[in-house]
Amino acid sequence: MKSRQRATGKLPAHVAVIMDGNGRWARRRNLPRVEGHRRGVEVLKKITRYARNRGIRYFTAYSFSKENWNRPKEEVDALMRLLRDYMKAEQKVLLEHDIKLNVIGDYEDMPEDIRKEICELRRLTENHKSMVLTLAFSYSGRSEIVHAVKEVVREVQKGWLNVDKLTPKIFQRYLYTCDLPDPDLLIRTGGEQRVSNFLLWQMAYTEFYFTDVLWPDLTEEDFEAALREYAVRERRFGLTSEQLKAGRRYLF
Ligand code: FPP
Repeated sequence: MKSRQRATGKLPAHVAVIMDGNGRWARRRNLPRVEGHRRGVEVLKKITRYARNRGIRYFTAYSFSKENWNRPKEEVDALMRLLRDYMKAEQKVLLEHDIKLNVIGDYEDMPEDIRKEICELRRLTENHKSMVLTLAFSYSGRSEIVHAVKEVVREVQKGWLNVDKLTPKIFQRYLYTCDLPDPDLLIRTGGEQRVSNFLLWQMAYTEFYFTDVLWPDLTEEDFEAALREYAVRERRFGLTSEQLKAGRRYLF
């Protein structure tokens, strides 16, 4: 039996996940791909609860990328249906567990009824404090950066921002994630070792954890294993080990 021994030491404040492997999970069982996604949603709910009870303050899941719109229509429609059901079913859980819902991505691409559902759930959970759950829908890291650049240019044109005063710290205020700290840990399931256009700006110093486990098979024990691995990593942010030990602060 795998151990669920809890990670001791530092805990990531912000964990992001790329939930890969739903299609392969289904194929291995001769099931349609959508069955993999359905099971994937159940695992997302389970891991969200575990992360919240474990004291993770921010949990972010790559739920649907901008590129995913190009999948077969049948699969896209099934994912939208799952998303609708998820919103309805999770409302109670988010309310009971004091979880705040946040959504990032190109909102206007989503069907109107889902947009309304998201707005309502965001409103209902806006004062929740235990954890911020961010779902990335119709999300692309490059599009997010371009969107932020356009906002910056508009502000410069209006004379509200001095271009010479622009720094990374100011720039990040224009990203969809302006209210979130950068992820400390990224977990990608499904065996691929890439970031697939997820949180490109925000992951400058994120620790990566890749596992061959397919997302629908991910257990709390697997999640805990990632936390244990994170706890022993040394994050240097470009400094040396010696500087860190001497207590130099990381400066942006
Ligand atoms: C990647 O697996 C996964 C996705 C494209 C979607 C992930 C979505 C979910 C887990 C459910 C949707 C979430 C909500 C809240 C409705 P893949 O299909 O690329 O798998 P494969 O690499 O094995 O083909």
